[in-house]
Amino acid sequence: MAAPAVVIDCDPGHDDFLAILLAQRFADLRGITTVAGNTSVANTTRNACIAAGMCGFRGPVVAGAAGPLLGEPQFAEHVHGASGLDGPELPAVTRSANEGEASSFLIDACGPETWLIATGPLTNVALAIRRDPGFAARLAGISVMGGSTSYGNITPTAEFNIWADPEAASIVFNSGARLRMVGLNVTHTVLVDWPFVQRVRELDTPPARFAGDLLAAFVTAYSKMSRQPGFAPIHDPCALLWITHPGLFGSVPARVDIELAGAFTRGMTVVDLREAADITAANADVAMSADSARVLDLLYETVSAL
Ligand code: BDR
Ligand code: CA
Repeated sequence: MAAPAVVIDCDPGHDDFLAILLAQRFADLRGITTVAGNTSVANTTRNACIAAGMCGFRGPVVAGAAGPLLGEPQFAEHVHGASGLDGPELPAVTRSANEGEASSFLIDACGPETWLIATGPLTNVALAIRRDPGFAARLAGISVMGGSTSYGNITPTAEFNIWADPEAASIVFNSGARLRMVGLNVTHTVLVDWPFVQRVRELDTPPARFAGDLLAAFVTAYSKMSRQPGFAPIHDPCALLWITHPGLFGSVPARVDIELAGAFTRGMTVVDLREAADITAANADVAMSADSARVLDLLYETVSAL
């Protein structure tokens, strides 16, 4: 089967970086757009260029929104550091971003065969939907890493990507696009641990040393925040691998709404999983399980081949 055409809209970010590497190996990667999220858009764009250089992606990298639709950008430096990729020594940047702006690029580049893989705040995607009313329905679909059917990470109820721009998320989830949502309820079962980091490091090539250091920093950062230290959830690769390897994920169709107002719950994905839920109101396939071992195998295979 032909590799699916994808564009990644991302905020690299340790796990976004890995998603780009996986996309170049397993998908027909047509472009990378960047957004402010884990760090500034200047940093996420530079980091995307580093990832593109490392995996040999020569297509477009286009910068997008510097902040959410409303309010100021909020970065995730407590996880990703000031650079967005703290941990490894960053290699020289061997390419620059293309001219242009992300939402226009998405409108031009994404046709009916294209899956949009969204692994950061949904600002660029929402802007594309606003600018082109036919955009959402035209795509093969949008695979979102974001939200949760259970607990959050940045607040008790909200996951970072949705919380960082809830208005954008609301536009996307009400757009009529074919949506897949892989949230924390699943990504927190796809865990890298120290033995995996060690295996990657033992590949002992420059890209593998970089990836090993990246994963080590990720495990260290999560260990500082976690009740169960020694693991890091590999969030963003799941949104990509659900498209390239659909058999690895189990899901249910459900209605997902974005809380925009709650004093305690702004940015929460309200997922209607009731037995009696009206299935005709579903607007997303919501991931409920993942073959975590296989996801890690694919990650290891990708780094091995760099
Ligand atoms: C998401 O937030 C970011 O920190 C990660 O890159 C991932 O996209 C997890 O909540
Ligand atoms: Ca991300």
